[in-house]
Amino acid sequence: MLKRGGMTAEVPGIMPKYKIAWLPGDGIGVEVLKAARIVLDRIELDAEYIAGDIGWEFWRREGDAFPPRTIELLKNVDAALFGAITSKPAKRAAEELAPELRSKGVAYRSPIVRMRQLFDLYICLRPCKAYPGNPLNYKEGIDLVVFRENTEDLYAGVEFSPVPQELAEMLGKLSKPFAPFAKLAPEQYAISCKINTRGGSERIVRAAFDFARKQKRRKVTVVHKANVVRATDGLFLETAQAVAKEFPEIQMDDANIDAMTMWLLKNPFNYDVLVAPNLYGDIISDLCTQMVGGLGFGSSGNLGAKLGVFEPTHGSAPKYAGQYKVNPIATILASKMMLEWLGETKKAAALETAVAQVIKEGRTRTYDLGGTSTTLQMAQAIADKL
Ligand code: IPM
Ligand code: MG
Repeated sequence: MLKRGGMTAEVPGIMPKYKIAWLPGDGIGVEVLKAARIVLDRIELDAEYIAGDIGWEFWRREGDAFPPRTIELLKNVDAALFGAITSKPAKRAAEELAPELRSKGVAYRSPIVRMRQLFDLYICLRPCKAYPGNPLNYKEGIDLVVFRENTEDLYAGVEFSPVPQELAEMLGKLSKPFAPFAKLAPEQYAISCKINTRGGSERIVRAAFDFARKQKRRKVTVVHKANVVRATDGLFLETAQAVAKEFPEIQMDDANIDAMTMWLLKNPFNYDVLVAPNLYGDIISDLCTQMVGGLGFGSSGNLGAKLGVFEPTHGSAPKYAGQYKVNPIATILASKMMLEWLGETKKAAALETAVAQVIKEGRTRTYDLGGTSTTLQMAQAIADKL
């Protein structure tokens, strides 16, 4: 699907070929990563898996859910497999912090969002394929691929609450539509900046078109809201139109995010590759995932020039934690994307075939598929096909 640049130095017989950071996180993240390991071991990937600390536990104990030692680890690996992390609203997060940390002024920020920005993992790749015979398919034959911009937009993290006086004064000077807000007291409103760059828009759109060209896909649809959010989405759309000219054999169209959600449901077969700024990509990829079986089937690759971090799209589902009942296929498909990224295309294809067979046969079914198989039984069934 998408391959990284550069190659790993290979010392036969001494060192494993790949270093992979192993980041279970918390909640069901731990269980689904155990499941992934069953298939990766069966497929005999020549890798060293290095466990990294990340998640709620480290927020509570250290005031940092993504500690510096884990950042260091990620600088020295070929790829990472990531489970899931519990996030709670600011107030709850502060309450759960170890007492000695409460006065230190630490603030919770989503580790995955930080990771995407720190390592410039600018592509969020989310393939959404309806595997034949999956009883949860919205329609058979759906095969969509979402390219979500992964570092900027409303995720830039530039936010103000309360709004500083200086900022309000400046906005009052520079923007007419700001007038009704200018009268408000600082704590009566909040500002989150949507920041989109030409460079950031161009590289995600280019990644989508490059992919379409290599995979012989017919069309790329640009998702936006440029009719209202004129500055940032206007820039995204304009940049996309320029990039599209370099790919004359691939059809390009565009749609507003709201209309897109309706059209996608009405006729998913009109679409192929979708590309979107960060927040719309977040939303549209959940919709696409639901059309191919929901959270048990959504996998995601966060890709940069050097590092790829692979994860299931689902969260940590605290209510299921420790029960070993969730469907690990999302994480197993994320492992398959990781194999592709590493250049292990044969192993990736074999793994996908095994997943497809187990789904088609329908003998091993986790609760979402109407069965009683456990997380690890599902992984074992897939491994047994390899
Ligand atoms: C996703 C998730 C994350 C996001 C959350 C957990 C921060 O929804 O990967 O789609 O918003 O990007
Ligand atoms: Mg999401």
